[in-house]
Amino acid sequence: MTPIRQQVDFKTQILQGIPEELPSKRSPSEDVNRAPKRKDILRRDEKILAVRNALRYFPKKWHEELSKEFAEELNSYGRIYMYRFKPDYEMYARPISEYPANTAAGAAIMLMIQNNLDPAVAQHPEELITYGGNGAVFQNWAQYLLCMKYLATMKEDQTLHMYSGHPMGLFPSSLNAPRVVVTNGMMIPNYSNQDDWERFNALGVTQYGQMTAGSYMYIGPQGIVHGTAITVMNGFRKVLETGDSPSGKVFLTSGMGGMSGAQPKAGNIAGCITVCAEVNIQAAEKRHAQGWVDELIFSIDELVSRTKIAIADQEVVSLGFVGNIVDVWEHFYEEEVFVHLGSDQTSLHNPWAGGYYPAGLSFEESNQMMAENPELFKEKVRESLRRQVAAINKHASKGTYFFDYGNAFLLESSRAGAEIMDDKGKDFRYPSYVQDILGPMCFDYGFGPFRWVCTSGDPNDLEKTDEIALKVMKEIKNEAPLEIQQQMQDNIKWIEDAEENKLVVGSQARILYADAEGRIKIAQAFNMAIREGQISAPVVLGRDHHDVSGTDSPFRETSNIYDGSQYTADMAIHNVIGDSFRGATWVSIHNGGGVGWGEVINGGFGMLLDGSKEADTNLRNMLFYDVNNGIARRSWARNKEANFALKREMERTPGLQVTIAETVDDRFLNDLF
Ligand SMILES: NC(=O)c1ccc[n+]([C@@H]2O[C@H](COP(=O)([O-])OP(=O)(O)OC[C@H]3O[C@@H](n4cnc5c(N)ncnc54)[C@H](O)[C@@H]3O)[C@@H](O)[C@H]2O)c1
Repeated sequence: MTPIRQQVDFKTQILQGIPEELPSKRSPSEDVNRAPKRKDILRRDEKILAVRNALRYFPKKWHEELSKEFAEELNSYGRIYMYRFKPDYEMYARPISEYPANTAAGAAIMLMIQNNLDPAVAQHPEELITYGGNGAVFQNWAQYLLCMKYLATMKEDQTLHMYSGHPMGLFPSSLNAPRVVVTNGMMIPNYSNQDDWERFNALGVTQYGQMTAGSYMYIGPQGIVHGTAITVMNGFRKVLETGDSPSGKVFLTSGMGGMSGAQPKAGNIAGCITVCAEVNIQAAEKRHAQGWVDELIFSIDELVSRTKIAIADQEVVSLGFVGNIVDVWEHFYEEEVFVHLGSDQTSLHNPWAGGYYPAGLSFEESNQMMAENPELFKEKVRESLRRQVAAINKHASKGTYFFDYGNAFLLESSRAGAEIMDDKGKDFRYPSYVQDILGPMCFDYGFGPFRWVCTSGDPNDLEKTDEIALKVMKEIKNEAPLEIQQQMQDNIKWIEDAEENKLVVGSQARILYADAEGRIKIAQAFNMAIREGQISAPVVLGRDHHDVSGTDSPFRETSNIYDGSQYTADMAIHNVIGDSFRGATWVSIHNGGGVGWGEVINGGFGMLLDGSKEADTNLRNMLFYDVNNGIARRSWARNKEANFALKREMERTPGLQVTIAETVDDRFLNDLF
């Protein structure tokens, strides 16, 4: 029998939400990368509760049939995804005019959601996971269907409240309120460790939204290419003599998944040899087919010889190794392949459930062991981390500059008992990229991953926005102080090369590391261009949560805060509240993201520019606060770059009055205790 859902068109399906007729059962597609089976963590009574929770989305008459199916899903996958309810229409960001909606904001958010679930963009599209192994947009397909219906029918004076993927519903609000408020994984603090995520996610009451997955702001790996290119470029600037080029020098790292897949491309942009190991052949082949990695190599001996040739020939090339990163670190040491720059981007925020594959086990063996013998698997992960760190230490003793790239590598290695602490045993022996590079050079000055999406889906619109952004950046650079000239120059080059670098996967989007001035001026120019018809449809503005103000995370975004406040989360909370009443179209706040559940609080926003005067006011107000909140906090923590940026901003913005930290002479402190 033909399933009911195939007989109705896209718009009708969106508007019906949960279908009136029970769709026929379907199995998840095996053609796409699938989420690993999650840990079997629930007791019998909790499993019953999980099925009871899942059934509350559906009419009673379906309960008998669905209860068995959901129990089967829980047993087979560790979660109830409700595969049967995944719609049959293609999942991708359509032009905004194709969405049935009462509001442009509702249509734009639907577009962003579909982009996050597009199989070309998402890591595990069947399980509604966008990136990072567990970065969920929704917990199950019923939530997706309901949310899309609410967005389609929402009016200008309603707000949709999203509880960790669950659409609680539309509530009356006002024209100026955000149209959507998202929370993901917000827990009572004592219930926020990794097993709590497994348990409460399996119960269907919370989810790990990562950063831009659960807030619909993911724009494919481009979002991270820029940040990674900046990091690699500046990493090489740290280790090379002035004027020396990165070509023929090795950057060794791992992971070709959702975000990590950007590394080989970023390495090419930075102009070095990137060697990137990936255990999952599907992930490696996807990136190769997309042109994000130049060559795939399957044997370690071949990798060693190919890398030696690339060094000898001073090449700029990315080599993807299909295998375990630990083997590469060890073999490169034995074979005397010098590594200038080293990092890691396995998903160590999620070490026990498929984020990190231990050396010595095949990909399949690991997947089996993590489900069937999780305790032994944990020990294998710890053992592998100890081996990896031992090999990295040997390279470092020869001069390799190793940095943590925000995946909790240092944290998990220390927990595994690896030799990762410095001589005093207090700090890690390697810096995080934020401590050494991104914090002092970008975040403290207000530069962060601003982004925009052209809702027409038309590449010509994207080209036009690139042109506008470039013009604005050049104008700002002319007046910019010496302290930020390098950042401005890197950004100008990024935008100039963006089209040629073919960065778009999914929606017509662009990322650009800009400061508050840049973000506001670019947005103003876009809004004007929309008003004048030079850009054919509204533009969505947003940013990664990994930014100046959006994220409190002591081992990543706020790792260069040294006044003790790196363990507080006031900044991220102020940001989401502050943005919400300054004109954001949607706001979100998450527990977890990047470094793991319980380790970080992060938030973001989306803002629709429709060419209106109201959008002009909103963008000025909100983008200003969205950046300067973080600069103020960083300055209060005595970061000198932030202090410089804040004073400069206060001079030109009389309404900004921030408490300035006084510095203290050490001689008053040293003998006190
Ligand atoms: N600093 C940042 O800005 C930043 C940005 C994005 C992601 N991250 C962090 O980086 C990590 C990776 O993110 P992602 O989205 O790419 O996750 P992902 O799960 O999509 O990709 C990680 C990849 O690593 C591979 N892998 C795991 N263990 C391996 C091993 N031992 N050897 C070789 N390959 C192995 C996995 O197969 C997977 O494909 C996450 O922890 C994420 O939070 C940091």
